[in-house]
This record gives sequence, structure tokens and C-alpha cells, in this order.
Amino acid sequence: MQPEFIIIHQQVVPYVAHIQLNRPKELNALNLQLMGELRDALKLLDADDQVRVIVISGNEKAFAAGADIKQMAEKSAMDMYNTDQFSTWDTIKKTKKPIIAAVSGFALGGGCELMMLCDMVVASETARFGQPEIKLGVMPGAGGTQRLTRAVGKALAMEMVLTGRFITAQEAFQAGLINRIVPVELFLQEAIKLAQEIATMAPLAVKMAKEAVLKAFDTTLDEGLHFERKNFYLLFASEDQKEGMQAFMEKRTPSFKGK
Ligand code: CAA
Repeated sequence: MQPEFIIIHQQVVPYVAHIQLNRPKELNALNLQLMGELRDALKLLDADDQVRVIVISGNEKAFAAGADIKQMAEKSAMDMYNTDQFSTWDTIKKTKKPIIAAVSGFALGGGCELMMLCDMVVASETARFGQPEIKLGVMPGAGGTQRLTRAVGKALAMEMVLTGRFITAQEAFQAGLINRIVPVELFLQEAIKLAQEIATMAPLAVKMAKEAVLKAFDTTLDEGLHFERKNFYLLFASEDQKEGMQAFMEKRTPSFKGK
């Protein structure tokens, strides 16, 4: 079945897929259906050998303005518990290939949290980031208190979560929340360019390196280093390691196959 709230572009450039969140009238508010479609699309793309890197964007006005408030407003605690909407996010977190968020306009609440689930962020100068849940009488529920704090530190995270203040692209860049700021007309193009650069690397090494970097967030330094070393050694079982090192010695560009 065709998704309703996302558009999937399989090969926007070789080996790069692009998923566009597409509920523009609602500023891409993340309702259950949209998140389900996104989860299913990421699962498919993660298993597709022709895809090495995934870009997720919204549109110029909004990446996403958060979870769908209208869908949640009348819910009871038990409804929320039984629906467990954030379990979808756990599946998204398991995506092995790198995901780049291309952000313009609002990245708020769940939108900011979805962006932080991605591995890198290319933002337009008009991007605004925030966790405004506090203004709705709740708090972030999809990682905002944890990932934001790890990304920007306690002082700014606490301020954003307790006041709901939006920060600019410049502030977000200075705080380490995003990778780069580009003119608004280029935000998608630049994200795809970054994806394309990563897509030329050895796919297995890229996946294992992503896994190891993420490990740094939930383990001790010793365990993280141990994990890193195992992945490093494991890559010597790949054809791409032989090709990469051989190509270096022969002074030519390697041709990686993901094997
Ligand atoms: N859920 C549902 N609908 C939303 C929405 C959201 N998160 N954000 C915007 N919309 C809808 C608006 O209701 C409006 O629809 P109608 O035309 O039918 O009224 C439409 O999108 C356009 O929005 P605005 O008219 O408000 O646009 P604006 O430019 O004046 O303001 C905004 C933009 C500042 C982003 C404002 O829309 C806003 O504050 N949105 C809510 C942001 C928010 O609180 N997000 C957190 C949600 S809770 C959450 O995400 C929990 C979690 O941790 C996962």
C-alpha cells in the first residue's frame, strides 16, 4: 500500500534514498499513521542493498512540529500506555544505515526528537528547534530530555525543556545539535550531498562505525572501546577492507561492494 503521509524517493542519487514527511497543512505533525509509515519505510530501505544512506526531510516551513497534539489531547494515561506510540521510535532507532535529517523551519517536540534520532543534521538558516511540551502541560516523551541533554549539555537542555524556548539554527550549531547551516534553498541538496559522500564509503564499515559511535551514548568508556575494537577487527572479514587497503597501495579509488 502506498504511504499517505510520507513520500519515498528510492534513488535520489545513487545509493541514497530520501523520505519526505508530507503532512504540510499540519506542519508535519507526527501522527501514529505517519510514524508507522516512516518505521516501515526505514525497515525496507535498511534491507535494500541499493540504499546506503537515508535522508529524512520535511519541507521548507517545517521538518515536524511535534507529535500530533489533536490525536493525543483526549487520551487517558492508559490509552497512552496501551498504544505505546513511542515503541515505533525504538524500531527507527535500530536502523543500521546512517540517517541524515534535512531540517528547515520548525523541528519541535517530537520533531526535534525525531531529528535527534537521526545521525547527522543539515539545517537551513530558518530552522528552529525546541521542546515546547512543557507549554502543553506535559514534557518530552520521545528522548528530548535525554538526547538533547547529551547533545547540548545540561544548561541549555534544561532551559529548552523547562521554558519551551525555541533556539535558532545558529544557537543549535554552536551548541553541537546540528552539523551545518546552509541557505534555505539548499538544505535538502546539501543533505543529499553529504549522504552521497558517505554512500561512497564501504557500507559495512559505515554501519559498524555508526553502531560504535552510538554505543558511546549508553555504555562505559571501557565497554565502548571494547565494542569498537571488535567491530574494527570484524571488518577484516569484509572484501571491502581488502579492496580499500589495496586501492590505497595502488593509488586508485576503491570500488566498495558492501561485502
Ligand atoms: N499537532 C497537531 N497539529 C499541529 C501541530 C502539532 N504538533 N503543530 C501544528 N499543528 C497544526 C495547527 O493546529 C494548524 O492546524 P489548523 O490550521 O487546522 O489550525 C496547522 O498545523 C498550522 O499551525 P499554526 O497555525 O499554529 O502555524 P503557526 O505558523 O502560527 O505556528 C507553531 C507554528 C509555532 C509550530 C505552532 O503550530 C505550534 O506551536 N505547534 C505545536 C508545537 C508543539 O507544541 N509541539 C510539541 C507537541 S507534543 C510532543 O511532541 C510530545 C513528544 O515528546 C513526542
